[in-house]
Amino acid sequence: MKILITGGAGFIGSAVVKTAIAQGHQVVNVDSLTYAACLASLDDVKDNPAYAFAQVDICDRAALNTVFADHQPDAVMHLAAESHVDRSIDGPETFVQTNVMGTFHMLEAARALWEAKGRSADFRFHHISTDEVFGSLGETGKFDEETRYDPRSPYSASKAGSDHLVRAWHETYDLPVVLTNCSNNYGPRQFPEKLIPVTILNAMAGKPLPIYGAGLNVRDWLHVDDHAEALLLVLTKAAPGATYAIGGEAEARNIDIVKTICDILDRKRPGNAPYADQITHVTDRPGHDQRYAIDPSRIKADLGWTPAHSLQQGLEETVDWYLNNTAWWEPLQAREGVGQRLGQGKS
Ligand SMILES: NC(=O)c1ccc[n+]([C@@H]2O[C@H](COP(=O)([O-])OP(=O)(O)OC[C@H]3O[C@@H](n4cnc5c(N)ncnc54)[C@H](O)[C@@H]3O)[C@@H](O)[C@H]2O)c1
Repeated sequence: MKILITGGAGFIGSAVVKTAIAQGHQVVNVDSLTYAACLASLDDVKDNPAYAFAQVDICDRAALNTVFADHQPDAVMHLAAESHVDRSIDGPETFVQTNVMGTFHMLEAARALWEAKGRSADFRFHHISTDEVFGSLGETGKFDEETRYDPRSPYSASKAGSDHLVRAWHETYDLPVVLTNCSNNYGPRQFPEKLIPVTILNAMAGKPLPIYGAGLNVRDWLHVDDHAEALLLVLTKAAPGATYAIGGEAEARNIDIVKTICDILDRKRPGNAPYADQITHVTDRPGHDQRYAIDPSRIKADLGWTPAHSLQQGLEETVDWYLNNTAWWEPLQAREGVGQRLGQGKS
């Protein structure tokens, strides 16, 4: 299958590009290369004849139309997005532009090709979304495919808007879409502004390990390669109109994630003092969702998906990866906003 993947130079997108090629698909990576992009994540496939790259902004419809006409994909996996909640608090407009309007332009460009090629029922538009669209859970309960939308940050609201557009294009135009909402991803090649890479790299640099508030917010962690496998399964096996909730059933409080990473580093790179001594509590993020958790029963039952990594094993491997790949992350630390406290809200 020839798959047009947007956001393929990002964290999850680059894992999806490599998984798709390993499974024998051809890939066209459409990415505008924002601050969050890293083409070095694709070094393994950049010379592969099954891989092509187009530097295109998904808000540029004319350029998108050209890419679709040139490559005639059988399917789309749409991952390109602004993805950092803290940045969405400081600058929501880019999030609405890319996540809402960009998804609109993607749907229209895909629909034009799908119509021109005779409205094939085999075509797929796979929209990759997040569990953050469902809002915040209390102590109990889990999100699933029937959970009511209740986004609470500019990021999650813009992703929710894009999900609604995708479903509307299915109901109104019959475009064969599939949609997934996934929990927090972690693993190699995550941009060094998210909790896990920030913790590893700050610990090694002797810097404070910032914890928002008391660190009691709970996230349900999934290894990025397990997510990529799930996405390819949904793309190739799910019926048009289907939605799947994807999660690793690995809930952890932020403070416990940070302490686990400190313990791993104490074993692998012992310093003069335990790394946990560097933990520093900082002002909480405004509107910080308390808990996310996914019930992935449907994708397990329908498609036979199951994650391969346990959280502990995945964190050990992720720490190893950052320790051994300085050349990947070091240049990214000079990018705008990295290492600064963002998203405290403006009065
Ligand atoms: N990271 C997570 O834990 C997580 C969890 C669930 C869902 N998701 C979703 O998965 C997708 C990928 O997330 P990620 O963490 O890999 O993001 P990322 O920020 O690492 O990568 C995003 C990529 O999209 C590209 N991009 C941004 N704006 C663009 C535009 N206007 N035109 C073309 N390309 C553009 C960037 O250059 C970058 O390569 C997003 O849609 C996100 O909402 C992420």
